[in-house]
Amino acid sequence: MTAAGSTLPPLLELRDVRVAFGGLTALDGVSLSVPRGRVVGVIGPAGAGKTTMLDVVCGRVRPTSGEVLVRGISLHGHRPQQLASLGVARTLQRLGLFSHLTVAENVMAGAVRMPRAGFLPTLLALPRADRRERALRARALAVLDRVGLADTADLLPGRLSHGDQKRVVLARALIAEPSLLLLDEPAAGLSAAEMSELSAQLATLRAADALSVMLVEHRVDFAMGLCDDVVVLDSGRLIAQGPPAVVALGAFDADGDGDGGGGGEAGDADGDEVAHV
Ligand SMILES: Nc1ncnc2c1ncn2[C@@H]1O[C@H](COP(=O)(O)OP(=O)(O)O)[C@@H](O)[C@H]1O
Ligand SMILES: [Mg+2]
Repeated sequence: MTAAGSTLPPLLELRDVRVAFGGLTALDGVSLSVPRGRVVGVIGPAGAGKTTMLDVVCGRVRPTSGEVLVRGISLHGHRPQQLASLGVARTLQRLGLFSHLTVAENVMAGAVRMPRAGFLPTLLALPRADRRERALRARALAVLDRVGLADTADLLPGRLSHGDQKRVVLARALIAEPSLLLLDEPAAGLSAAEMSELSAQLATLRAADALSVMLVEHRVDFAMGLCDDVVVLDSGRLIAQGPPAVVALGAFDADGDGDGGGGGEAGDADGDEVAHV
């Protein structure tokens, strides 16, 4: 799945990752990779382990066993705030915007490693920070412009529609200039029109920035339309992965014949990349 002839490691790799919360196994031996410049969707029912997978990748949850690597570097012992320096940015399933800061200030908060309430006012109070703050604001405005929200910079986020607030969340992740963007349910609560706008936007970003994206999505139609590859999780286990059309076919196939026994076969002769585990 890496670019032909490339010796670079994948941007993100999970090797046999297991996460147990007490007696509950949230991820059960998951292995996958996200190549550079690809959009990978993680789909599955509620409780399948999708958010836990993002938590593991961004360092919020430590795997019980197995390994997570970003550009071939093991994340063992990394803290979430160190991941920004590896080029990883994430949006949360809940929006997590600061209601008392303007849209621009919320986006600016994404440029600091550990945004804290009170950080920006402190920064603004320091005279020597003026130039840095102006440069940061200019970056925030540029990112807001990219997501179509330039004219909302000085509003409080509560004035915006849910769909536009989700764009602010995206802008807040993009200001860190990530090479791997992790999105938790980006289409949740969006109208059909907003969903297709978001698809177009992610396609543009990915083309312009060679951005790799891993997105967790409950809305299968959205993920299928946008992603190069889809990973299907169920009860913490990776049950299928491959291009959307092939995974969709596999889902129909599995109804008839079970899932093909054996497991771990090296390739299915006709070159399709789907793997049923
Ligand atoms: N911090 C936690 N402590 C205990 N159980 C958790 C925790 N986080 C998630 N779980 C459990 O792990 C399973 C997977 O959850 P999650 O990753 O949130 O699923 P999804 O995002 O696919 O809906 C669920 O059964 C959930 O209740
Ligand atoms: Mg979730």
